[in-house]
Amino acid sequence: MQSPCCCLLSLLLYLFFLSETWANLEGTFTVRLLQTTTFQNTSFADTEGLGLLEDIELGSLDKHTWSIRFCQPWVRSALPRADWDTIENLLKIYLQQFNHLINEGATQKDIPYPFVVQCTAGCMLYPNRTSLAFGYVGYNGQDFLSFDTKNFTWTLYQDTELSRYVQSFLQNYTALSELIETLFNDTCVDDMEVLLHYGRAALERQELPVATVFARTPSLDQLLLVCHVTGFYPRPISVAWLRDGQEVPPGPALNTSTILPNADLTYQLRSVLAVAPRDGHSYVCRVRHHSLGTRSLLIPWENHSAAPTISITIAVLVLVATAFAGGFWWWKRRKGNEATWETQEFII
Ligand SMILES: *[C@@H]1O[C@H](CO)[C@@H](O)[C@H](O)[C@H]1NC(C)=O
Ligand SMILES: *[C@@H]1O[C@H](CO)[C@@H](O)[C@H](O)[C@H]1NC(C)=O
Ligand SMILES: *[C@@H]1O[C@H](CO)[C@@H](O)[C@H](O)[C@H]1NC(C)=O
Ligand SMILES: *[C@@H]1O[C@H](CO)[C@@H](O)[C@H](O)[C@H]1NC(C)=O
Ligand SMILES: *[C@@H]1O[C@H](CO)[C@@H](O)[C@H](O)[C@H]1NC(C)=O
Ligand SMILES: *[C@@H]1O[C@H](CO)[C@@H](O)[C@H](O)[C@H]1NC(C)=O
Repeated sequence: MQSPCCCLLSLLLYLFFLSETWANLEGTFTVRLLQTTTFQNTSFADTEGLGLLEDIELGSLDKHTWSIRFCQPWVRSALPRADWDTIENLLKIYLQQFNHLINEGATQKDIPYPFVVQCTAGCMLYPNRTSLAFGYVGYNGQDFLSFDTKNFTWTLYQDTELSRYVQSFLQNYTALSELIETLFNDTCVDDMEVLLHYGRAALERQELPVATVFARTPSLDQLLLVCHVTGFYPRPISVAWLRDGQEVPPGPALNTSTILPNADLTYQLRSVLAVAPRDGHSYVCRVRHHSLGTRSLLIPWENHSAAPTISITIAVLVLVATAFAGGFWWWKRRKGNEATWETQEFII
């Protein structure tokens, strides 16, 4: 008998079972499988599934056919076609059994429909090549059970009749626990190494941050300096304000947003510094990011120029650039299409 979320883990076993070496990538890496199933009634459940390496989407589940949709070409290449077919079949069996099991439990314990069950399973590989696996189950958006990788038992988050039932159900299957143990002890690192090998270029992708500084005036006696940074990858970044060359320490005047995702797997954030208008200090936004190497991006706030002036300057610059690009294109066309498209794009 296969059981719910741990089956996700056993997928890891099949997913990337290749004994290839990987070049040395620095850092800690995490593989995560996510599943969200909404049980509408005893006969209808809706499942969404996703596989991630760090923040890179590897593949997702087609919710109508339960087949895998690859999000990266290198994920499909990591395994022969026949292996992917096997994985897809396992996935379908797992999802069928999962739904059956949950419906059975819900009936036994009189759980009202609709409800949502979420599972996360995966592992982390540390630079010292030790690994840590994890498994969590959520019920209606709340933590429900977690798999303890130290003593290989399921731990309750909420002590309810339902959680104890599911826990005892999972614990009654010792064959399953052994499978999980093997996965946690041996397989995770091997799988991760294959993934890191194939996904290296995606993991090492670097996108430069683009930063702009502008001001808002919520009231006459307050000026909010905004440093907006976007388009960068990977996610870690440092954004600070310098007042007369000195870093402004954290405090009530400084407000930095969380890092938010863009649609193209880059990130953005903004840092807002409240200052008094015409206080005589100089302000510079400093950005540090892996793609910049040891350099920093420094964007000064011009104290004397108001926000509209800056926006207009940028707009004018954009106009000039567009006009130049357009003129260049027109000129090249007149010359008889000598330039290649790459050249033109580069100059634009
Ligand atoms: C279960 O839910 C689905 C979708 O909401 C609906 O189409 C179906 O009629 C429901 N079945 C029962 C037995 O209530
Ligand atoms: C490996 O690194 C992790 C994370 O830094 C640490 O928790 C763990 O104890 C280390 N293990 C060994 C054997 O050094
Ligand atoms: C397993 O370990 C966790 C903490 O690490 C503890 O809360 C739990 O009681 C342990 N379970 C068993 C069966 O020993
Ligand atoms: C698990 O096994 C125990 C002891 O054999 C039994 O009392 C309990 O009903 C079982 N739980 C489930 C959910 O099957
Ligand atoms: C997994 O590792 C733990 C602790 O290192 C050990 O007690 C256990 O026997 C191992 N299990 C398997 C299946 O290798
Ligand atoms: C920081 O910004 C957030 C979002 O705009 C706002 O809710 C919060 O009150 C701000 N905090 C401070 C200290 O200004």
